[in-house]
Amino acid sequence: MMSNETIIKFQDVYKSFDDNEVLKGLNLDIKRGETLVVLGRSGCGKSVMLKILLGLIALDSGQVFVDGVVMSELAESSQYQIRRKIGMLFQSSALFDSLTVGENIAYALVEHTNMKADEIRNVVLENLKFVDLPGTENLMPSELSGGMRKRVALARAIAYRPEIILYDEPTTGLDPMTATTINQLVRKTQQQYGVTSIVVTHELASGYSVADRLAVINEGRIIEIGSIHEVSNSKNNFVKTFLAGPK
Ligand SMILES: Nc1ncnc2c1ncn2[C@@H]1O[C@H](COP(=O)(O)OP(=O)(O)OP(=O)(O)O)[C@@H](O)[C@H]1O
Ligand SMILES: [Mg+2]
Repeated sequence: MMSNETIIKFQDVYKSFDDNEVLKGLNLDIKRGETLVVLGRSGCGKSVMLKILLGLIALDSGQVFVDGVVMSELAESSQYQIRRKIGMLFQSSALFDSLTVGENIAYALVEHTNMKADEIRNVVLENLKFVDLPGTENLMPSELSGGMRKRVALARAIAYRPEIILYDEPTTGLDPMTATTINQLVRKTQQQYGVTSIVVTHELASGYSVADRLAVINEGRIIEIGSIHEVSNSKNNFVKTFLAGPK
């Protein structure tokens, strides 16, 4: 599944908000087809990292490459072409509350493609089936549980057939059984669509269950990266403490 080819590269990325230095020389290579889990404590910059990759937040210095192309040097229009390759599952699910489940999933297809209404409808139904929520297309987001919202958000993210999916805390705030369902969906999405995935989380169990590789971020940098086995045997004190979990 995972190749040796780098699809995403963060090179010496710095980002501050006023005097809050969040990323301080972040270097990270993501391989095509892998699920890379980035672990780190709350506030360390995980969401900021994903938003920089999506072009939602500008970096201060350094570069981000997608498929060998520097994101920051692209014109808006070409950036959009690259961004189209990326689907994102936001920490808050971020569904449009005034649209039905079906309209949420259809949204980008209606806005950005020439697909016909019945084709779009088929994609909506197919993706709702994929996330195991058939028959929910006419519900409003307010009628859904937290776990269902995450699944609809995933159906929306994959409707576009992205090559890359970013998951921001996909299981945080969910009960363990629902979290397991989401973790299985992350795996199933990788297997069925061959996508490259970055999952950021501070939940160890979730990270272990989906990761091909784990990376740990602390003080603005990746301080450890490797297989679960390699990272579990890290000599780094922060990694050891973090993996030991709360006392
Ligand atoms: N738009 C912004 N403006 C100012 N500060 C920001 C902004 N976005 C993030 N920050 C700050 O950057 C730091 C990192 O935030 P980020 O949301 O990336 O953390 P995180 O690792 O995702 O945490 P969590 O696990 O709680 O989601 C925090 O100190 C946060 O307050
Ligand atoms: Mg976050």
